[in-house]
Amino acid sequence: MNQQTGPKAPDRVETTADFLLNHAAARPVSFHMPGHKGSQLYRRYGYGDFLDSFMDCDITEIPGADNLFQTEGILARTQERYAKLYEVSRSYMLINGTSAGIIAAILASVKEGGTLLMARNCHKSVFNALTLGNIRPAYMYPEMLEEYGILGQVTPEEVARSLKENPAADAVILPSPNYYGICSDIRSIAEVVHKQGKILIVDQAHGAHLKWLSQREHSGVGPECAEDAGADIVINSIHKTLASFTQSAVLNLNSDRVDRYILEDKLQAVQSTSPSYILMASLDISADLLECSGRELMRQWNETLDYFYEEVRTIPGLQVISGLGELDRSKINLDTSQLGITAAQLEECLMKRRIFSELTTGSILMLMTGIGNRRQDFERLLTALKEICSEINRAQDGSFQNCKGGESSIEAAGQNSTGKATGGRMPCKKELHPIPKKKERVPLEAAAGRICASSIIPYPPGIPLICPGEALEQEEIDYITELRMAGEKVIGVNDENEVTVGA
Ligand SMILES: Cc1ncc(COP(=O)(O)O)c(C=O)c1O
Repeated sequence: MNQQTGPKAPDRVETTADFLLNHAAARPVSFHMPGHKGSQLYRRYGYGDFLDSFMDCDITEIPGADNLFQTEGILARTQERYAKLYEVSRSYMLINGTSAGIIAAILASVKEGGTLLMARNCHKSVFNALTLGNIRPAYMYPEMLEEYGILGQVTPEEVARSLKENPAADAVILPSPNYYGICSDIRSIAEVVHKQGKILIVDQAHGAHLKWLSQREHSGVGPECAEDAGADIVINSIHKTLASFTQSAVLNLNSDRVDRYILEDKLQAVQSTSPSYILMASLDISADLLECSGRELMRQWNETLDYFYEEVRTIPGLQVISGLGELDRSKINLDTSQLGITAAQLEECLMKRRIFSELTTGSILMLMTGIGNRRQDFERLLTALKEICSEINRAQDGSFQNCKGGESSIEAAGQNSTGKATGGRMPCKKELHPIPKKKERVPLEAAAGRICASSIIPYPPGIPLICPGEALEQEEIDYITELRMAGEKVIGVNDENEVTVGA
């Protein structure tokens, strides 16, 4: 940003606004959150005025502007629109993301000191709710897809096993889709959970679009959304894949197993008392887009995905993961194992071409598509992938010239150039010790065998690698050290490289 008229201060450091404006000016292609992918979507569909009057729309609860925590006017109407769109009894706007919705849903469903059955790969907000509600976790373990080094579905059988072992649990929560787009069979899980009289909460942060993108009429024969499958509470990050601004989300209440008034009380407790009208208006615009142009937008999204999946198969050496059961096709998972490079290296090559992806894990690069991606984004991506792969091929004397592009074979996936299985570490089944009451901070390298007192969370994806009550193993310490040396964020390790363990 350089709008001052006077001479520029010689040692002026880059501000956040500088960074954002420079980034936007470089015309990047976004395959990461948020789903709107920039201003073009709003402008194309007639919401340019809102963007142009951005700051003038940043108001508080003046007369006529309604109140998020006691809606009766314009905000009530937005919530009613969502309830109608998702076909649920009530929808609530969230301005602190799905994170806030998850915390409120758990606190409304599990009594203080009670038990929550939770998938071990839940987002950190679930772990925060445990602390806030003095709630005991009982873990359900998703399938480990060893070949890819990532976690898969939580099966109905695993939910049934966990319910049998923990009959006093009040509720069950799991993410579906997970970060890679892998969906669990929510319909069968809902049956199992409801048979025992418990509440099912689904963290659908990554699947706000499923209700529409998966519809057969749009050619996508994909997973069912959790609302249609019978979950009691479903929380959707509208900002991740649909058209609202970052941090805005919607919680859907889909049954009377949960007391609405308790839920509303928890929602007001975990959200800002100054909810942003800009965020709420963007939720309203996103609902408007779905109502008025949803069919067209979903058709275009599916067509561009068809085009991409068809074309990417022709690139030698590059594989696309498929065949993992119910997969949300809007998440593109590229497997670099046959190229002999890591996903992080591919990510870097793409970034040099101003194409930004969402997540890497070992040999898997995940590109998050959204309602705002246009065909030209996919064209630029394909051109870049073709260039990168042919450069690698030349550098390696054509060693993978004969490897066909296409769908990743299970055997090949997850192998790096040395043939060693890669993949970011995923949480594994461990003995759960009582959560330490007395805590101390110790250097990470001296923490082997100690019981963790505060979660250690690589970000992204924000899934705790080690939870309170689990012992730290040397292998995990080595992995965390590696991540930090590579410049990755690991929440729970402080600036002095210390972690919190039981004293
Ligand atoms: C699985 C999962 N659940 C919940 C969240 C939190 O969503 P939000 O960013 O809307 O708070 C995330 C964030 O990335 C996530 O990956």
